[in-house]
Amino acid sequence: MASFRFFPLFLIYISSFLSLCFAGDPFVYYDWEVHYKNISPLGVPTQVIAINNQFPGPLVNVTTNNNVVVNVTNSLDEELLITWNGIQHRRNSWQDGVLGTNCPIPPNWNWTYQFQVKDQIGSFFYFPSLNFQRASGGYGGIIVNNRDVIAVPFAKPDGDITIFIGDWYNQNHTDLRKTLNGGKDLGMPHGVLINGKGPYQYNRTFVPDGIEHETFNVEPGKTYRLRVHNVGISTSLNFRIQNHLIALAETEGTYTMQQNFTNLDIHVGQSYSFLVTMDQNASTDYYVVASARFVNETIWRRVTGVAILHYSNSKGKASGPLPEGPNDVFDKTFSLNQARSIRTNVSAGAARPNPQGSFKYGEINVTDVYVLKNKPPVMIQGKRRTTLSGISYVNPDTPLRLADWYNVKGKYTLDFPNEPLTGAPRLGTSVINGTYRGFIEIILQNNDTTVQTYHMDGYAFFVAGMDFGEWTNNSRGTYNKWDGVARCTVQVFPDAWTAVLVSLDNVGFWNLRTQNLDSWYLGQEVYVKVINPEANNKTELPKPDNALYCGALKNKQQPPHTPKLQRHKPGKNSGSSLADGRSKILWTLMMLLFAVISISG
Ligand SMILES: *[C@@H]1O[C@H](CO)[C@@H](O)[C@H](O)[C@H]1NC(C)=O
Ligand SMILES: *[C@@H]1O[C@H](CO)[C@@H](O)[C@H](O)[C@H]1NC(C)=O
Ligand SMILES: *[C@@H]1O[C@H](CO)[C@@H](O)[C@H](O)[C@H]1NC(C)=O
Ligand SMILES: *[C@@H]1O[C@H](CO)[C@@H](O)[C@H](O)[C@H]1NC(C)=O
Ligand SMILES: *[C@@H]1O[C@H](CO)[C@@H](O)[C@H](O)[C@H]1NC(C)=O
Ligand SMILES: *[C@@H]1O[C@H](CO)[C@@H](O)[C@H](O)[C@H]1NC(C)=O
Ligand SMILES: *[C@@H]1O[C@H](CO)[C@@H](O)[C@H](O)[C@H]1NC(C)=O
Ligand SMILES: *[C@@H]1O[C@H](CO)[C@@H](O)[C@H](O)[C@H]1NC(C)=O
Ligand SMILES: *[C@@H]1O[C@H](CO)[C@@H](O)[C@H](O)[C@H]1NC(C)=O
Ligand SMILES: *[C@@H]1O[C@H](CO)[C@@H](O)[C@H](O)[C@H]1NC(C)=O
Ligand SMILES: *[C@@H]1O[C@H](CO)[C@@H](O)[C@H](O)[C@H]1NC(C)=O
Ligand SMILES: *[C@@H]1O[C@H](CO)[C@@H](O)[C@H](O)[C@H]1NC(C)=O
Repeated sequence: MASFRFFPLFLIYISSFLSLCFAGDPFVYYDWEVHYKNISPLGVPTQVIAINNQFPGPLVNVTTNNNVVVNVTNSLDEELLITWNGIQHRRNSWQDGVLGTNCPIPPNWNWTYQFQVKDQIGSFFYFPSLNFQRASGGYGGIIVNNRDVIAVPFAKPDGDITIFIGDWYNQNHTDLRKTLNGGKDLGMPHGVLINGKGPYQYNRTFVPDGIEHETFNVEPGKTYRLRVHNVGISTSLNFRIQNHLIALAETEGTYTMQQNFTNLDIHVGQSYSFLVTMDQNASTDYYVVASARFVNETIWRRVTGVAILHYSNSKGKASGPLPEGPNDVFDKTFSLNQARSIRTNVSAGAARPNPQGSFKYGEINVTDVYVLKNKPPVMIQGKRRTTLSGISYVNPDTPLRLADWYNVKGKYTLDFPNEPLTGAPRLGTSVINGTYRGFIEIILQNNDTTVQTYHMDGYAFFVAGMDFGEWTNNSRGTYNKWDGVARCTVQVFPDAWTAVLVSLDNVGFWNLRTQNLDSWYLGQEVYVKVINPEANNKTELPKPDNALYCGALKNKQQPPHTPKLQRHKPGKNSGSSLADGRSKILWTLMMLLFAVISISG
């Protein structure tokens, strides 16, 4: 009893030593160097983006309300920003890591993010937001654990495994950018990576020799939590494990009604947690598969990720054909129904002890409606661009939030239309005027021929409805007003719509974008400005002291940037970051020891 009561005290005690700061919520520190690394995931040598020599990058594993400090050193040869997909940055869009709020970190320069994972739980990921860099990696997982006082609606799993799936091109991000800048499509990807690795050689016709694959080692009879993220460019993937049911338990911060699936479609930028019990007889290893959706399987066979689930008592290698996914190239009804079946567990607590269903989103009056329409790429001023409601977003030279802070005028217009424009598509920096404490309905209408996913920074939105055809006022009759999931990334099928509801309670400038990297790069995004009309420093945190300056404000930069020698050469191990890690662990151990001695004394 006594030791249990000491536990929270104990943590705060340690963290205050580490941070030299006595604020209530613990601090967690990360020291990252972002650099190139030479590997050949699909047999073709390429430079991927690694962090501290890891590809995918290190896991951010924290607990609700922790303060997270990440010191990022940019050892790439181009500008960098890291964005924290799904982290809500309450009152703090300054740390969001997108061009609307941050100046980029120049090469050979470091910048420290500091944010609190306030009032949220769940599985998310981070990635580099500029210059198409995500196509070369730089991503990693984020886990926000429940505080100890709040029950998780399932037994503690025996293990926790993060899995990244995503389409992959053998060209690097600079070459892919050139293709897009040249007005061309990227074409078919060369494969699908699972945790940065190529497919297991399940068939020599499709997988050449010498490809390294991922293996998940498990114990028979145990249950694991698998956190699966689609970090790819634009391919929807079907995830499945041979002979095993995957029980959906959480998506992007919402505990779901548990439901067994044999396979689930995971669209670009989406995250899901599954509980998987190792209940098979281990006669062989089992395949873990991520295959491209809604494509001709004969042509796309190579675009399949294959990893291995290995029981410790396995009697042999996996062999034979892969387990089949849904066989419906042109019919998206199965996938749409599958998505609609995902519901919130309304009686579970999450970041707070009150049930997730206690915020009755279906009973709140909508204050504003936006219909955002995606169309196939078009030519604007001689360039191939994508649009949202007829506007192709252009980043100004000065971040929107920073421009406002310094009263720099003319960087954007606050006139994004409620209905799609009907005239000729145009370029612009048009921003949505979001009313603070308003409750808005956003209808995402996809008039293109491929699935798009949409994401909003700073918020989780309620997925109210999804259907084929053109949305009309009558479509509201089909909304789920009770147990739709609150998440940050939602798919919109081609020739279909998805409706989401958002409570605008988080002040700042928030990016609303397609997660499909090619459409995003070509202009399919917008920002939502949410301002408390009463100026104070309570609803939004002030500009951080270390803010970088650029554009109209670049003369404020102290010290001016002068490139230094690169610490990390591609392909070599980083001695320094490992040593840093070791000394931090030593320091932590010393403090732990000290704390134990003080408490017992
Ligand atoms: C990308 O690949 C091209 C060759 O196709 C090479 O010239 C370029 O340096 C590479 N860029 C990076 C960042 O690795
Ligand atoms: C995350 O950290 C917690 C302790 O805070 C630990 O129990 C858990 O095993 C860690 N999870 C992973 C996946 O490392
Ligand atoms: C971040 O890392 C760089 C490079 O290791 C170091 O020079 C800098 O002092 C660190 N900054 C902070 C705030 O820890
Ligand atoms: C890290 O950034 C700080 C503040 O911007 C700067 O003083 C320091 O020289 C930088 N260190 C490196 C190694 O870039
Ligand atoms: C590999 O795939 C080809 C083409 O589908 C098929 O004919 C062959 O039987 C497969 N080989 C094995 C070992 O499964
Ligand atoms: C999922 O399947 C397992 C194993 O068949 C079963 O024990 C469990 O009750 C199922 N869960 C649900 C929610 O249907
Ligand atoms: C294991 O299960 C498979 C499939 O259910 C079955 O074909 C096989 O005979 C079983 N093997 C053993 C050793 O029980
Ligand atoms: C898939 O492609 C193959 C080869 O080009 C073609 O024969 C087949 O008809 C296509 N299947 C569908 C469903 O379009
Ligand atoms: C919503 O609007 C209706 C009619 O305009 C009004 O009667 C009702 O009180 C409002 N509900 C809330 C929760 O404000
Ligand atoms: C933005 O909305 C607020 C109300 O929320 C309104 O007062 C203001 O005039 C609007 N600004 C513009 C430029 O439309
Ligand atoms: C796009 O919109 C046009 C005009 O409303 C319609 O005819 C067409 O079927 C739509 N296409 C898709 C893929 O939604
Ligand atoms: C908010 O904080 C900033 C910087 O700390 C300060 O300059 C400003 O006056 C504050 N504004 C208000 C309304 O308190």
